[in-house]
Formats: sequence, structure tokens, C-alpha cells
Amino acid sequence: MSEEVASGELGLPDAERTERLGACLGRALRDAGTVIFLRGELGAGKTTLARAWLQALGVSGPIRSPTYTLVEPYEIGGQHWLHLDLYRLNTPAELEQLGLADSPPEQGGWLVEWPERGGDFLPVPGVDLRLCRHHDGRRVYWRGIGRHAEPLESAMRGFEESSIEH
Ligand SMILES: Nc1ncnc2c1ncn2[C@@H]1O[C@H](COP(=O)(O)OP(=O)(O)OP(=O)(O)O)[C@@H](O)[C@H]1O
Ligand SMILES: [Mg+2]
Repeated sequence: MSEEVASGELGLPDAERTERLGACLGRALRDAGTVIFLRGELGAGKTTLARAWLQALGVSGPIRSPTYTLVEPYEIGGQHWLHLDLYRLNTPAELEQLGLADSPPEQGGWLVEWPERGGDFLPVPGVDLRLCRHHDGRRVYWRGIGRHAEPLESAMRGFEESSIEH
């Protein structure tokens, strides 16, 4: 049986719109077990989106970029979430030294910047987002896989409708 996939794209004309999308997805996809890939070149807006997602889940303190630590853990209402930035990973095998096994995605979720660096050592994502520069803003190309396909599509549709200026 082939796995269900939903996909699409939409514009994010400014950073505030990236934050609003992160918050919208954080509210819509709060079930445990979500692996989110955040792709895009340096400065594409991955951390901006991840921060808003974590805030929407209930993180109230500072949300540091995991640029140097590679991983920042969060306890949110009994769930364990990880925010990863794998840009500085030298080899995918180094992932095993980050202690990720202590917080498997089933206990909460993983938001992963630069997932390409993790190779086959990362789980398959349920939400796969790619941010690209577009004029002064960004465009996001999204894909929802398996049980995340339907809720992601519905959240993206709701976000697009709420973004239409009247
Ligand atoms: N839709 C957007 N339009 C314009 N600027 C944006 C948009 N989204 C985010 N930005 C801005 O892009 C800059 C870089 O954002 P951010 O740090 O989130 O990128 P990143 O993808 O995490 O980079 P890195 O790969 O270095 O971790 C920030 O100044 C942010 O405000
Ligand atoms: Mg970043």
C-alpha cells in the first residue's frame, strides 16, 4: 500500500508571516510523534518557523537557535520535544552521540533544521517543509506524509485563507 502524501506551496512575504505559519502548524499538529523537517539555505527562515511552532506548543522561556549545541530539548505539558540544527554535523553517524534516543519522537516531536546532514540516521518525517527565497520574502514548499498528510493540508488551507487580505 502506498503511503498518503499531500503537498503544495505558498508565499511568506515577510518574517511575521513565517512566524504565523509556525504558530498555525504548532496549534494544528500537536499530537505526539511528529517529525518535522525544515529545509532551506542559510537564513531561509527555519529557526523563525521552529521558534513560533514551539511557542504555540507552550514553550514560554527563551528559544535559542541550536546552531552550536545542535540540539535543544523542551518539556511541554508532559511531552519531550527536540529542536535540532544539524548544519554542523560532520557525519550522519555523529547523530548517535547527541542522546536523541532518550527523546524519541513518539514522546513529543522533533523539529529538524538541515535534515539532509542526518542522512539515514533520521526517522522519516511526517511534515517536510522547504523554505526558499522569493523576492524580498520566502516561499514554502510543503509535503505531509502518512497520517500527517490530511491535518497538514487542512492547516495549510486554513492558513492561506486567513492570509488573504480583504
Ligand atoms: N518570509 C520571510 N520574509 C523575509 N524574511 C524572513 C522571512 N522569514 C524569516 N525571515 C528572516 O530571515 C532571517 C533568517 O532567519 P532564520 O534565522 O530563521 O533562518 P535559518 O533558516 O534558521 O538560518 P540557518 O540556516 O542559519 O539556521 C531572519 O532575519 C528572519 O527574520
Ligand atoms: Mg536556523
